[in-house]
Amino acid sequence: MTENEAIQRISQLILQINHHNDLYYNQSRQEIADYQFDMLLKELQALEKSFPHLLHSDSPTQRVGGSVTKVFKQIKHQYPMMSLGNTYSFGELQEFDARVKKVLGVDEVEYVCELKFDGVAISLWYENGLLIHGVTRGDGVQGDDVTMNIKTIRSIPLRLQTPNPPANLEVRGEIVMPRGGFEKFNELRIARGEEPFANPRNAASGSIKMQDSSMVAKRPLQCFCYYVPGDVLEATSHFDSLKWIEKLGFNISETMRVYADIHGVNEFIEEWDKKRSELPYDVDGIVVKVNNFHLQKELGFTAKSPRWAIAYKFKAEQVQTRLNSIVFQVGRTGAITPVAELEPVQLAGTVVKRASLHNADIISQMDIRPGDWVMVEKGGEIIPKIVGVDISRRPIDSEHFQYISTCPECGSALVRKESEANHYCPNFEYCPPQIKGRIEHFIGRKAMNIDSLGEGKIEVLYDNKLVRTMADLYDLTYSSLIGLEKTIENVDGIVRKLSFQSKTVNNILKGIEESRNVPFSRVLFALGIRFVGATTAQKLANHFRSMQQLLKATYHELLEVDEVGEKIAESLVSYFSNPDNQYIIGRLELAGLQMEQLDAPSDVLDNKLNGKTFVVSGVFSRSREEIQLLIEKFGGKNQSSISSKTDFVLAGENMGPAKKTKAEKLGIRIIGEDEFLELIG
Ligand code: IVH
Repeated sequence: MTENEAIQRISQLILQINHHNDLYYNQSRQEIADYQFDMLLKELQALEKSFPHLLHSDSPTQRVGGSVTKVFKQIKHQYPMMSLGNTYSFGELQEFDARVKKVLGVDEVEYVCELKFDGVAISLWYENGLLIHGVTRGDGVQGDDVTMNIKTIRSIPLRLQTPNPPANLEVRGEIVMPRGGFEKFNELRIARGEEPFANPRNAASGSIKMQDSSMVAKRPLQCFCYYVPGDVLEATSHFDSLKWIEKLGFNISETMRVYADIHGVNEFIEEWDKKRSELPYDVDGIVVKVNNFHLQKELGFTAKSPRWAIAYKFKAEQVQTRLNSIVFQVGRTGAITPVAELEPVQLAGTVVKRASLHNADIISQMDIRPGDWVMVEKGGEIIPKIVGVDISRRPIDSEHFQYISTCPECGSALVRKESEANHYCPNFEYCPPQIKGRIEHFIGRKAMNIDSLGEGKIEVLYDNKLVRTMADLYDLTYSSLIGLEKTIENVDGIVRKLSFQSKTVNNILKGIEESRNVPFSRVLFALGIRFVGATTAQKLANHFRSMQQLLKATYHELLEVDEVGEKIAESLVSYFSNPDNQYIIGRLELAGLQMEQLDAPSDVLDNKLNGKTFVVSGVFSRSREEIQLLIEKFGGKNQSSISSKTDFVLAGENMGPAKKTKAEKLGIRIIGEDEFLELIG
């Protein structure tokens, strides 16, 4: 094929693919089969490979992602990304309407009603019709440049569908993960031993901040656009502006309606409060906007939000169901969690069978009893909660619920510290779920990452008395594992048979073998020391460099580590002074695990800063977290407060005068952002 032919064919293919994408993602229609669509895309990919200079930034092949961004660039918003005032009753909406009418001096105002999508806000910038930036809300003034990630979302046009695009256009919308896709995606995460996301909103916001855009491409994300900031010359009202951008290729919700007055708005609320659970994605309210642009201008903005728009938040959905029983789970730290077993019931699009009851105080305050009809609500968390009891439906023979006093798993008497809400099983050493929980934590992804041991296999090893501590994993052999089996029933009653055939055993042994190379910081995290998360473990490893040094550290030396406060330091001291833990660490060391930090911290890009210590203070052109990340990426260390060990104070605008005086007194070099950027080149 000649270059000219390629140019022609590429532009034909782009037009066709964009047309089918728009039909599929924005209009829920399909003119060709998935297979034919894939063939068009493959042909385009092949042509772009043969003629790389013909690859355009708006090519639909860019939707599959591939670029990796380590640190997102900060971009200042052209117009601040504001929030909306919230209301919770129609009465409050009438007050909003009265304020609007008073300012405008009119009797009635036309409103547009939209759903309030529960996702993550995005600002999309187009220059001469091409998508050039996708920016998150950030702090409202500046946000992260996540362009490569949002390019993978097919309902966002990469090029505006018009031969005469405006020179500049900004469109705002919300990225959501539809509920069905969210549930499948979470199941996948659980199967891989990853933490599930609490709700579709968190999943959407986590997705668009991923470093690898090809991972984002695999996530089921969708974008609803709802606002065009700045002057829109093509329309005189909000409704028309959205209809205009719809023609340009943006996805606008079909549910948007115009009402002549605030009474119409009430109809919209009542309709969607009932119907929202039927929607495939989460909405947490509705947004009411003055339709006419002239009137919007007249109303203007407060410091935080437009005066011409307001949100009405739905009450969390509730259902009543019967509480069949209260059961107790024992966590890896021994904490007891009471769980309500419910008669299965439909709530906010999913079936609920269990709810969290938190602790003994909550059960007694609400006087919840097995057999009661309870009100269940879905909040932001993955597990729904019980918010009340319908006393009128309580059985007459019902009795107060007695909280347990002994561990349901090992029978030990439970303890409760005065300052804590939870009961604990003190049998740290022998209580089975605590032992299994510690080992499960040890093999987890962020820890030793022995994924060949996940999904119930620890249970098999425990039942066969092969493991009692994490160190026992390193004594496992082929002959001790081969032929073991167990039938496992999960909480949803699904029965699986686990049997250790030769392939499984070899995989387990390989996983254990490979874990010997896991860096020290993750070994430290894997021990499961209370309050020591992955980040703290990394900081401790960077600071002390070896297990030997860490074991010697005093309480006060521990406190010097960035982000280590009294609670963590106490927990570390108590963990390391326990002879049983010392014995386990000794065995892990003998097994060949990494007990020293390699020369540079594991994810250092370049060691330009060579272990120098920084205290970052004040306001910078990028976020403080980003600056701290850069310090670590270039081999430096962050400290939260200035001490004689600090090498540099990185001072932004408005650095506190006390910090400045202290740095000067200790003779510490104070540098600005530009100088720092020069240091790291
Ligand atoms: S309009 C200047 N419309 O809610 C007004 N916002 O609390 C811009 N949201 O940050 C916002 N659905 O992330 C608008 N139909 C909708 C919305 C919506 C969801 C989000 C948006 C905004 C937040 C305000």
